[in-house]
Amino acid sequence: MNLEKLVNKKQVVAVICSQWGDTGKGKIVDYFSDWADVIARGTGGNNAGHTVVVKDEQRILHLLPSGIIHDSDGKINILGNGMAIDPKALCSELDELDRDGVSYDNLMISKDAHVILPYHIMEDRLKHQSQEKGGIGSTGRGIGPCYADKVSRRGIRIEDLFDKDRLARKIRKASEFYASQEKDVDEIVSCLNPFIERLKPFVRNTVAEIHGLYKQGKKILLEGAQGLLLSIEHGTDPFVTSSDCSLNGTVSGVGLPATVVDLPLSAVKFPFMTRVGAGPFPTELGGSDSEKYCAAGIEHNAVYELEQHAIPFTEKEGKIFYAHNHPNILDLMNSQDLFTQGIGIRLAAGEYGATTKRPRRIGWTDAVAAKYAVGINGGLMILTKADCLSGAERFRICYEYKNGDSSTTDFSRDEGFLRRVSPSCITYKGYDDISGVKEYKGLPLSLQKAIGDFEKFTGGKAVIISTGAERGSTIVR
Ligand code: IMP
Repeated sequence: MNLEKLVNKKQVVAVICSQWGDTGKGKIVDYFSDWADVIARGTGGNNAGHTVVVKDEQRILHLLPSGIIHDSDGKINILGNGMAIDPKALCSELDELDRDGVSYDNLMISKDAHVILPYHIMEDRLKHQSQEKGGIGSTGRGIGPCYADKVSRRGIRIEDLFDKDRLARKIRKASEFYASQEKDVDEIVSCLNPFIERLKPFVRNTVAEIHGLYKQGKKILLEGAQGLLLSIEHGTDPFVTSSDCSLNGTVSGVGLPATVVDLPLSAVKFPFMTRVGAGPFPTELGGSDSEKYCAAGIEHNAVYELEQHAIPFTEKEGKIFYAHNHPNILDLMNSQDLFTQGIGIRLAAGEYGATTKRPRRIGWTDAVAAKYAVGINGGLMILTKADCLSGAERFRICYEYKNGDSSTTDFSRDEGFLRRVSPSCITYKGYDDISGVKEYKGLPLSLQKAIGDFEKFTGGKAVIISTGAERGSTIVR
């Protein structure tokens, strides 16, 4: 991969997402993890999912930065101050590393990160997870309630875990808020104890550490989670996560000044995009039918859709294998019915949640939203997953929202507005297999034209275009 020229003389690189998450930035993050001395996450928790390859086997990390697999090379991995950490979930990720023989000696956990406790998870599952019960479709990991406690100044930080009296006092205070739930403080503390002991050796003042590492000239990768349109600060409120997963939020979540980032890269799926959970999605294929169908969650998972459409598959250790270019999938993608097209793209691109297995909602890439994101995250973009659309007869990009007789090219976070508007798109000719293309001029002309139009409209620049899962399948401009 010819990314060397991009990182020449750079010290801090951020790889974040400018849509609703799941933009497939893992491959690029892995590349920069190789390059970096320090890999740090600043926001979110185990609501994220990132696939890494350990000894030829795929593993999904939820909390640990992907650079953890390079720990034995002395790379430092940091869970930053802005994160929400479930000690039990973190320990089970460490257990998996133990099983795989991957070391984590250089792991650092911020003393200031907030702690997810069982009552947060219970609250999240009761109120925010089920879309049928009016929730926003959260991942049910307790992220929202944990951050709500942080903002309400009753949160528990990692360093509180090491002072038993303070911990019990703080849990007692927080549990008053969760009056309807089990609140035996002693029981909560005794369940936490084994995890506290296990994590203790890794807890640090990571803000001071990262400042020191920066001054020493260490190369730092900031690994984003979720995406700008899910940010509590800039996303489609209230259908958002609870951290600010913008570029600025990510930098703040590790305690660095925004001015040090010299290569801020934002991942954007192109020419289709996805969203999981509830919330407006102007370009969604199949509109509210798709939203309702996907709200059923794992009921409509990959196995269900493969069986429904007679596509052969095998299952090994919970993973599903099938031919993503199976003729039935191409037929679905090229259907005249938009909802069916969405299913086809979902199957072609394997768009099922790494954390929850839910089907992801599918729509065409929204340049109006991307222009908004460029304004906040900066204009250097990584376009991902274009290869997944190989075989589609046409694709579309939305450049305008129509609202009755009026139209606009400006995004708004307002749910009513986003649900009212209909996308106005340009249709482009589809393309055959582009997997593995390494040169921009090797891309089909219609895709080059779409990328050019997208750059012009958003004011951004597609500096990296991914054309497949392998590292080599990457165009760097
Ligand atoms: P929470 O982060 O679990 O509170 O969920 C809030 C919203 O963000 C829900 O719509 C989730 O589906 C969505 N969400 C959270 N994490 C991710 C992610 O990593 N990718 C995509 N969507 C996410």
